[in-house]
Amino acid sequence: MICVVLGLQFGDEGKGKVTDFLSDRFDVVVRFNGGGNAGHTVVDEGKTYKFHLLPSGSLRASTVVLGNGMVIDPAALIKEMEGVENLTTRTRVVISKMAHVVTPIHKTLDSKEEQLRGRLSIGTTAQGIGPTYEDKYARTGIRMMDLLDRDIIRDKIETIYRMKEKLLEDTIYSSAAEREKVVEELYQTGRKLGAFLEYSEDLIYNEYRKGSSIIFEGAQGTMLDIDFGMYPYVTSSNALSGALSLGAGFPFRKVNTVMGVVKAYVSRVGAGPFPTELTGAAADHLRDLGHEYGTTTGRPRRVGWLDLPMLKYAIRLNDVDTIALTKLDTLGQMNEINVCTAYYRDGKPLDHIPRTLSESSGLDLRFRSFEPWGKIEPDNDGIMNYEDLPESARNYVEFIEKELGVKVGLISMGESRKSTIDRMKH
Ligand code: GDP
Ligand code: IMO
Ligand code: MG
Repeated sequence: MICVVLGLQFGDEGKGKVTDFLSDRFDVVVRFNGGGNAGHTVVDEGKTYKFHLLPSGSLRASTVVLGNGMVIDPAALIKEMEGVENLTTRTRVVISKMAHVVTPIHKTLDSKEEQLRGRLSIGTTAQGIGPTYEDKYARTGIRMMDLLDRDIIRDKIETIYRMKEKLLEDTIYSSAAEREKVVEELYQTGRKLGAFLEYSEDLIYNEYRKGSSIIFEGAQGTMLDIDFGMYPYVTSSNALSGALSLGAGFPFRKVNTVMGVVKAYVSRVGAGPFPTELTGAAADHLRDLGHEYGTTTGRPRRVGWLDLPMLKYAIRLNDVDTIALTKLDTLGQMNEINVCTAYYRDGKPLDHIPRTLSESSGLDLRFRSFEPWGKIEPDNDGIMNYEDLPESARNYVEFIEKELGVKVGLISMGESRKSTIDRMKH
């Protein structure tokens, strides 16, 4: 079985929880995009892990891969690996030689670029993501395999510096000695990570040939995709299912199942259009109920109602087979529950979703309301069955299925692994 799990909204849909839930059915878990901007939460027997670079299957799969499409801060990766007990003794960790390296200089550049954008600033995670992908496409980037050679690291750092000198002139990196410190630190990380570096596309393909099951874990979400999201309020990589072909070197045609993770409402961190956004007391209530604060930055997340037109777009782009619906427990506790079913402008339905701030202003959104289902407690074993959900919650799920024409295969009712209803077994 070859599966891809990815977010259909603005990120933070609960991909980490879903990937971890599924990961004991898979031999290999692969990340293929993004870097430390991702924050994927996994709760295992009460212990909480926040993965930024490691795949969320790292607690249970036998092989985990950080693919070539990722941008990796090697020092952060070493720390993250050390935070998972016995990771490298029980799990084979593979890092693509071709993944690009995020350095402290890229993080400084990220903040500098944000300042310069002024009113167009994106609200990035300041993890150096944009500048590292800029260097990748400028063909000046440092790749993971470069970390094994001090002279190459130095040449590339100096090239990056010459190209970005203006941006760096009032930072510590205008000092040659500081840049040399970065070179040395990167080289030392290379010595620690060298044993994990491989041409991971070969490993993934060999596993496929052997008949291993593989799960690809997308970071971010469809509406943050650099091409199809709400540009420029997006991340710097593609976040669609097809991006795994490029970000892992595995042919998308061989994927059996595309699982789209959908939060029962919507959240977004950072700036940009958000048609169904809530404001005032209702927003504060939903944010508090869902603990909606960024995993990577701690920023309060913007929140709003589920947006079906947006989901239809995401389902089409990703060719979604099944939905994992998360946080149904959270949404049920609201005093009222709405779902956006259509966008209108000047009395006419829109046949596309708004992609820019100006396209999303002056919209007339149509909503359908649902009865709240309140707080749901699992039975004593923590097990939940779909049939035991209140009728109003089932109405919500079935309405979504009908409108989207896609089955809801998993329902997540809490952060822990066992608070999950698996409808794919039937
Ligand atoms: P990701 O980036 O898509 O992996 O999502 P994050 O981990 O950034 O954010 C999702 C948050 O919701 C995390 O704190 C999860 O522990 C939590 N979570 C995931 N699924 C559920 C659920 O069904 N119910 C509740 N209450 N929390 C959930
Ligand atoms: P996961 O994988 C939510 C958002 C940032 C910002 C924009 C660009 O946890 O779902 P970047 O640092 O990538 O240049 O920021 O994208 N963003 C995310 N929002 N979840 C994420 O990842 C995100 N990764 C980036 O908030 O608006
Ligand atoms: Mg997240």
